[in-house]
Amino acid sequence: MNTQTTSNRAAPRELSREEIEKQFRYAEQVAAIHKQNGRVGESAPRCFVQTFGCQQNEADSERIAGLAILMGYTITHDPAEAKLILVNTCAVREHAEKKALSIIGQYKHLKDADPEVIIGVGGCMVTQQHRADQLKRSYPYVSFVFDTASIHTLPELVAGILAGRGRKFFVGGEGNIAEGIPTHREIAYKAWLSVMYGCNNFCSYCIVPYTRGRERSRTPDAILAEARQLIADGAKDITLLGQNVNSYGRDLGDTTFAELIDAVANLEGDFRLRFMTSHPKDASDELIEVMAKNEKIVRHFHLPLQSGSDNILSRMNRRYTAEKYYGIVEKLRSAMPDISLSSDIIVGFPGERSEDFEATMDMLRRVRYDAIFSFIYSPRKGTPAAEMTDQVPHDISTARFERMLALQNEISLARNQRFVGRELRVLAEEISHGDATKVTGRGDSPRPIHFAADPGVIGQFVNVKITAADTFSLSAEQI
Ligand code: SAH
Ligand code: SF4
Ligand code: F3S
Repeated sequence: MNTQTTSNRAAPRELSREEIEKQFRYAEQVAAIHKQNGRVGESAPRCFVQTFGCQQNEADSERIAGLAILMGYTITHDPAEAKLILVNTCAVREHAEKKALSIIGQYKHLKDADPEVIIGVGGCMVTQQHRADQLKRSYPYVSFVFDTASIHTLPELVAGILAGRGRKFFVGGEGNIAEGIPTHREIAYKAWLSVMYGCNNFCSYCIVPYTRGRERSRTPDAILAEARQLIADGAKDITLLGQNVNSYGRDLGDTTFAELIDAVANLEGDFRLRFMTSHPKDASDELIEVMAKNEKIVRHFHLPLQSGSDNILSRMNRRYTAEKYYGIVEKLRSAMPDISLSSDIIVGFPGERSEDFEATMDMLRRVRYDAIFSFIYSPRKGTPAAEMTDQVPHDISTARFERMLALQNEISLARNQRFVGRELRVLAEEISHGDATKVTGRGDSPRPIHFAADPGVIGQFVNVKITAADTFSLSAEQI
């Protein structure tokens, strides 16, 4: 194994068993206090976990809930009945932070009505010290914050509050890997599986490397063991997660993401496999080959473009050109002609001229994505792009954003129409929102597919025939 480390490549740091077990003992202490007060079984105190942000946060929240259960809480979806409220925040754009702060503000009245309520805030927003300080100063009803590398310390934090040891607002947990934390999953058939944490890319607009720390990969053994357990528990749709899965294993030295996904896909069982996210600079031929030969890996690739202009890509520190990006698209389509493609795009990055924006529009016409997630650039404190002097006025960004959506909607509709008349194998996921006679599922592409069915099929694969296509969804009948 290659043990060489460089200044920007921290050695993976797996927390020792003792560190984790210390937290389990704190959890037992908390559970014992509840028990002493007769709060067990039906009377157990409730914990409400609220999640903002990406799938990584969703996965973290499953561990947050797992720890709450270890502390003797029962999970609730109603904050009004909770004794422990844990908000898992996001910082990727200003809007995400505003939303989290406003929700936290709304919980003040719950604490006023019941001083026993404990409110803790975790996630990317509070991993920035200035936000942790702001909560300490201006949100006196919040008891503690926990950064993204300190989720495993929740039992210690809650035990400290119950013992009257005072509020805690220190962040700066070292990047680590905490194995063996219990997970509470609400749905068995769909599962997130983190393969790595952190990001080393420092795209100039992005806060994530500051809130998630440096890249660190879990070992293939730990990931495969968790995958086997998920499959045994009924998982049918597993998403391997990392901010840039293509650099998985670099810190371990002797393994790649392509090898990892191949190994997971080769596990016994009827399940399908997705992964997020891939950075185009690291998308390998090996990964494309592994996908093409493995039916269990879905025919969908999320490949964030961010901008179609080389000038902007360079200012974003993305380290690829539009041509290099398009080369990957061609390889994907020649290996898997029907593959669905999706992307993230930022509009109005500092210095984006009209011709830069038109280059992005040209890429949308050329690639013809099934879907895009587009965002108006949002300056993030502490990132290089926030210091750039040529910020694009908001009305220009908004006008560009709207033009882009209109173009993409046309393309999405045309792409969806290719499915009409086809038979697809779909995982039935939930009762359709707004039509209780229907069930919504997904095929390989993340497009929702609505079809009339008995809710009993939820959690199973069913075969459907696509009858109609919309911009954002497909209609089908069960066959
Ligand atoms: N690691 C993933 C996703 C990170 S965040 C990746 O590299 O693709 C998800 C998306 O949010 C990014 O792809 C980007 O399009 C968008 N984003 C990140 N920072 C942003 C900012 N400051 N303003 C607007 N959008 C941003
Ligand atoms: Fe952010 Fe870039 Fe890392 Fe993605 S790859 S998380 S956009 S810095
Ligand atoms: Fe948000 Fe953090 Fe994810 S900033 S998008 S929750 S990594």
